[in-house]
Amino acid sequence: MDGPTVSEIFETLDYGPAPEDDAPFRAWQKNLPADKHWIGGKWVASRDKQGSYKRRDPASGDVLTTCALGGPKDVEAAVKAARKAQKGWAALGGPGRARHLYALARMVQRHSRLFALADSFDSGKPIRESRDIDVPLVARHFYHHAGWAQLLEREFPDTRPWGVVGQVIPWNFPLLMLAWKVAPALAAGNTVVLKPAEDTSLGARAFAELASQAGLPPGVLNVVTGDGGAGRSIVEHDGIDKIAFTGSTDVGKQIRIATAGTGKGLTLELGGKSPFIVFEDADLDSAVEGVVDAIWFNQGEVCCAGSRLLVQEGVQSAFLDKLKARMETLRIGNPRDKAIDMGVLISPDHRKRVAGLVDEAVAAGAVCWQPGWWSPKGKAKSCIFPPTLITDVSPSDRIAQTEVFGPVLTAMSFRTPSEAVSLANNTPYGLAASVWSESLNLALDIAPKIKAGIVWVNCTNQMDAACGFGGYRESGFGREGGREGMWAYLRSPLDFSPGSSPAKKASSATPAASEPGGIDRTAKHYIGGKQARPDGGRSLAIHGADGAYIADVAEGNRKDIRNAVEAAGKAGSWSSASTHNRAQILYYIAENLDARRDEFAARLRQLSGASATAAKAEVAASIDRLFDYGAWADKFDGSVHSPPMRNVTLAMNEPLGVLAVVCPDEAPLLSFISLVAPAMAMGNRVVVVPSEAAPLPATDFYQVLETSDVPGGVVNIVTGSREGLALDLARHDGVDGIWYCGSADGAKRVEQESAANLKQSWVNHGQTRNWADRSIGSGPTYLRRATQVKNIWVPYGE
Ligand code: NAI
Repeated sequence: MDGPTVSEIFETLDYGPAPEDDAPFRAWQKNLPADKHWIGGKWVASRDKQGSYKRRDPASGDVLTTCALGGPKDVEAAVKAARKAQKGWAALGGPGRARHLYALARMVQRHSRLFALADSFDSGKPIRESRDIDVPLVARHFYHHAGWAQLLEREFPDTRPWGVVGQVIPWNFPLLMLAWKVAPALAAGNTVVLKPAEDTSLGARAFAELASQAGLPPGVLNVVTGDGGAGRSIVEHDGIDKIAFTGSTDVGKQIRIATAGTGKGLTLELGGKSPFIVFEDADLDSAVEGVVDAIWFNQGEVCCAGSRLLVQEGVQSAFLDKLKARMETLRIGNPRDKAIDMGVLISPDHRKRVAGLVDEAVAAGAVCWQPGWWSPKGKAKSCIFPPTLITDVSPSDRIAQTEVFGPVLTAMSFRTPSEAVSLANNTPYGLAASVWSESLNLALDIAPKIKAGIVWVNCTNQMDAACGFGGYRESGFGREGGREGMWAYLRSPLDFSPGSSPAKKASSATPAASEPGGIDRTAKHYIGGKQARPDGGRSLAIHGADGAYIADVAEGNRKDIRNAVEAAGKAGSWSSASTHNRAQILYYIAENLDARRDEFAARLRQLSGASATAAKAEVAASIDRLFDYGAWADKFDGSVHSPPMRNVTLAMNEPLGVLAVVCPDEAPLLSFISLVAPAMAMGNRVVVVPSEAAPLPATDFYQVLETSDVPGGVVNIVTGSREGLALDLARHDGVDGIWYCGSADGAKRVEQESAANLKQSWVNHGQTRNWADRSIGSGPTYLRRATQVKNIWVPYGE
């Protein structure tokens, strides 16, 4: 038979164009009011009069729209409208708000063509992705959160909305980021001032107007357009109670500093450099498809993109061959063509940045591989950049550490599972990871060892409204989606604000040299399970309520803090110990404290002049608290989500790691125990600065720890100046979280300093707590603050 066979015809068939009809978008775009913000339920002209800018379609260069450059006056108007609306919105109650959220979900579905086109025109993403992934997920978010609104009063008792929430979002998923932020905020009873990214405002503007047509009351959602200046005006506005931000880690750090000490709630969803780990027993063909979804989905402009490929040595060359063959078949082109795999980058400037990072890597010795069909000729000024594979790099190279935010994959190899884990964790980020192995045992052994908020097993870039999304370390804190995402928009009685009752000032200690008894009576630090002399050799005198000298304690300095953090860092086995084991030890501590209750009560009386009854009550409450947390240790566990894929998602409560605890002066034993015990129960290793005025119950406590089988380094105690030591802890990169009870000014400085590695902070802004009240001094809020949720996605089926 002459002529080509059917399979040969298939091989040679070329793709024809398959353009999406853009009529719904064009019709809407014609009537879009230029240069206006959406405030109080209508389009309003900018009060700031800072001008406007043109936004161009990154694929064609055509002007899509002009946007007002919002500023402080526009933000002020939006905050006023949001404040005015908030009371009524909250008063609707959860079920009342749920009706609105359902209506928004249906509105998104009704206008899905328009939204898909708006997102694709704005950002350059393929219409196939905006139509089949982004927009359906947006609707799903509103449905899911309508459910949380319905159940709010029952599922989140003793909470209230923050009030007015400021939200700043990026350009890579314009509408999906809106949904992730707006849906939970509204469900919880907040009203919103939202700033879309300067590059992508179309979806947000369409959403605001159509939401109003769907009955959303005026002022509940306000949209101010503009650049980073408008974002800053939102962050700095006094009338905003909480900030939620998604974007670069640099800006996230600036926002952490700008909000320090204000009492504003803060959640940050930042960048990443997520590992994609392929073990030699993986299904390599599936893993290749996984890589395509990990790094070429949305042109790699994805915070959780699997941009660092780690392949086990034995299969590396076979895997890269398969990957290159697959890259040859990827299609790049007009975002509205339904048959392309990759659209265009967000802007010519961004393309330049991506190309610059690749050129720099090549100049440093890396090898760059791009498909044979790619020709860079004439593309330098466009927004097109091809799928790119970089090999021959070392883990510390810039290309392997920096978030490129483009279609650039860096490949390295590993030999053993433990090497894979250490390479995976070798960046300051911790957003996501993907693990590929046919051995579920191996994958589920690796997943908890990776410092990331999301781990996908044999899958990648899966997202759903029921499963919290968010990072560890410099990828930010807070979750979006699921129950854990709702907490970010609800205030508990333990979320403090500055400005009411100030914390008691610590009585100032006098240098030891002037006191009788000298250095011999000095209680030392407790570091790595041993008593340790202070580095500076200095001590502080501690006096009782009657002014009488009682004893000296070591005066800690930065070196002591460094030693304590190092010891805590080494005690990692506590974090992986079984919850049963941790419970046993907490019970044991409780029993040993019980055996010495008279001694501790006497110490409290000596320090504070409390009555015998009050001192005994404080010790009794401390013992109870230890039993409480022993009980919680194996019960505050995670959950299993059932997203609408063939998937189970294991939401695990993991410890923060090394947690710094700075104690208040009130109830010096009870507050110390109330802070340390929940942290320990959840598997954290702690560095504690006890009450500055009354540290002796904590230093006496060493003996209890020593007789209770607490491994060295799990609890480290450094005494001395609260404020100074707190700042040393806040600055230390080895500390993953900090709880601070002290002055309002101290709280502000701790929050500012914590920005360096984005450690999670929980501060009391100078407020005191009634530690004896079990509902205030203990409970699940402490456990939630001591943990972060990791979502591990496990698909099932053939
Ligand atoms: P960006 O972080 O500067 O912008 C994100 C949003 O924050 C935008 O709405 C912007 O107007 C606003 N903003 C900028 N400065 C602000 C400030 N000081 N205060 C308040 N809001 C501010 O990100 P950009 O410039 O768009 O992209 C730069 C890099 O950031 C990317 O190449 C990528 O590496 C990373 N990025 C990460 C994202 C993520 O989802 N994690 C999203 C977007 C960017």
